[in-house]
Amino acid sequence: MKILLINGSPKGKGSNSLKLTYSFLEGFKNEFACNGEEISVDELHIALMNIGACKGCFACWQRTPGICCIKDDMQTIIERQIEADIILWSFPLYYFNVPGILKNVIDRQLPMNLPFMSSGQDGYGSGSHDARYDMEDKRHVLISTCGFYSAEGNYDSVLRMFDHFLGKGNYVTVFCGQGELFRVKELSARTDEYLDTVKKAGSEYAVTGMISDETDTILRTLLYPRDVFEEMADASWGISKTTGEKESDDLVFTRQMAALYNKSAYDGKDRVLEMHYTDMEHTYQIQLGKEGSNVFTDGSLISTTRIDTPFEVWSAISRGEIGGAEALGKQMYTVSGDFSLMIDWDKFFGSNATAKKAEKQSKNTAGQKDPSMMTMLISWITFWIAVSINPEAGAVITLIVVAAVPLIMRNHKFVIWDQLSMVIVAILSAIANVSGTGDIPTNIGYLAFGLFWLLSCLTKEPLCAAYVKYNYGGERAHQNPLFMKTNYILAVAWGSLYVLTAVWTFLLRKVGFGNVLIIVNNMIPALMGVFTVWFEKWYPAWMASGKNN
Ligand SMILES: Cc1cc2nc3c(=O)[nH]c(=O)nc-3n(C[C@H](O)[C@H](O)[C@H](O)COP(=O)(O)O)c2cc1C
Repeated sequence: MKILLINGSPKGKGSNSLKLTYSFLEGFKNEFACNGEEISVDELHIALMNIGACKGCFACWQRTPGICCIKDDMQTIIERQIEADIILWSFPLYYFNVPGILKNVIDRQLPMNLPFMSSGQDGYGSGSHDARYDMEDKRHVLISTCGFYSAEGNYDSVLRMFDHFLGKGNYVTVFCGQGELFRVKELSARTDEYLDTVKKAGSEYAVTGMISDETDTILRTLLYPRDVFEEMADASWGISKTTGEKESDDLVFTRQMAALYNKSAYDGKDRVLEMHYTDMEHTYQIQLGKEGSNVFTDGSLISTTRIDTPFEVWSAISRGEIGGAEALGKQMYTVSGDFSLMIDWDKFFGSNATAKKAEKQSKNTAGQKDPSMMTMLISWITFWIAVSINPEAGAVITLIVVAAVPLIMRNHKFVIWDQLSMVIVAILSAIANVSGTGDIPTNIGYLAFGLFWLLSCLTKEPLCAAYVKYNYGGERAHQNPLFMKTNYILAVAWGSLYVLTAVWTFLLRKVGFGNVLIIVNNMIPALMGVFTVWFEKWYPAWMASGKNN
């Protein structure tokens, strides 16, 4: 299988459209590699070749049939076209058509045709010429990006021209608006998602010679909504809309960031995000409201969240070179005011892709949900309540519940703490049942439960993190020092509480105050729960504000 890639972008290898074409090729080649078929790809970058304009002399039809009088690289293109099985036409849209250098290549196809008028009907009533070579079985793919927000309606001239040139229905297309976004690293979460779909289109084309309707629909979905894109595009020129003067890099950047604001995330609360670029000594305010975002340079608003950061750090974060949470944990920047904006950053400023990716990550491949702390707690809570009331019967009930946990929590993945809890609770229940006493087994239970938490702090993941990390990007949460520190502190707190519970339970029973335990041992964990909810919000916000220094 011979593939010819004709890159018609004047930017050569720096073309946006070429990125899509390479993704398509990757999908195509992967499919062929699976079938063990040989595949060769020939790339012709027209911008790097010497191709003159057709002189209109018709020498290739009359004086030297099939041979052009201009001696340049066009002969190579024609030879490769004749040899190829599939031709990928990769190009940008220029003034609603192909760029001039590609139009030159198309004009110079004249030697490929015979001079005589064809009797074949092309369905347009315009007439045509038959091919000089057998080009019937060639397959063609047109891949292109354009600069406006949508490809829809933008490619009318291109389609009409290729209908005549290659024949109606003889090619498939991948046309994408907002093409310049493919070079913006800060937006790669969204553009990479699009490229993945183009790759899928390539795989489908390798198998069926078509792109499925489902994939085609996704390919036609805008990268960003029109208003978001157009605001970003306008800001990207770095020229003030009102004065026409050049704006500083950090202001341009801030405007683009503001353009990414997703107004559908508005929750009835007006916010003002103040960006203070410490190295530039510039402060800008982004008003985030129901109707969208606005950038203010005069400091006239009252900020609700303020970020103090070197510009370099913030732009590296947006390019994905440093994780935002990781940088915050390392105090490369600080946040003061309302911290909830930072927690919901992806909701307000992430693309749909980021949100969807996070959603996808949280569901495992077998469709199982993330681990739930309930899986671990069911066994313990049943054990402490049931065995305290009646050691023998309670132990049997606990054993039945433990055996049912895999069924009750079957939709969730299990972690080591769930399995360990089931084993230990089962052993302690058996002891309670045989010995006919619940005091010692429940007390050992408190100790064991407390040790779980404390011992987990000696590992790379404190116990609570094993459950809650999925709300913070899954495994990526391990790179987030704020998240890890918060969870280590909470795990030590819960662990100490239960070890102490074992101690005071033992002592209170010994001195005959066992009856207060029902209140103490339920009240204190409940208060600890309230503390946990407060602490997991307060601590990261306090650390992020840099006040601990
Ligand atoms: C001279 C010129 C004309 C253009 N004409 C159009 C146009 O008619 N419609 C459009 O949506 N984009 C237009 N664009 C934008 C390009 O199509 C867009 O930047 C594209 O992503 C460039 O792709 P490339 O990097 O593959 O060359 C034009 C760009 C240039 C430089």
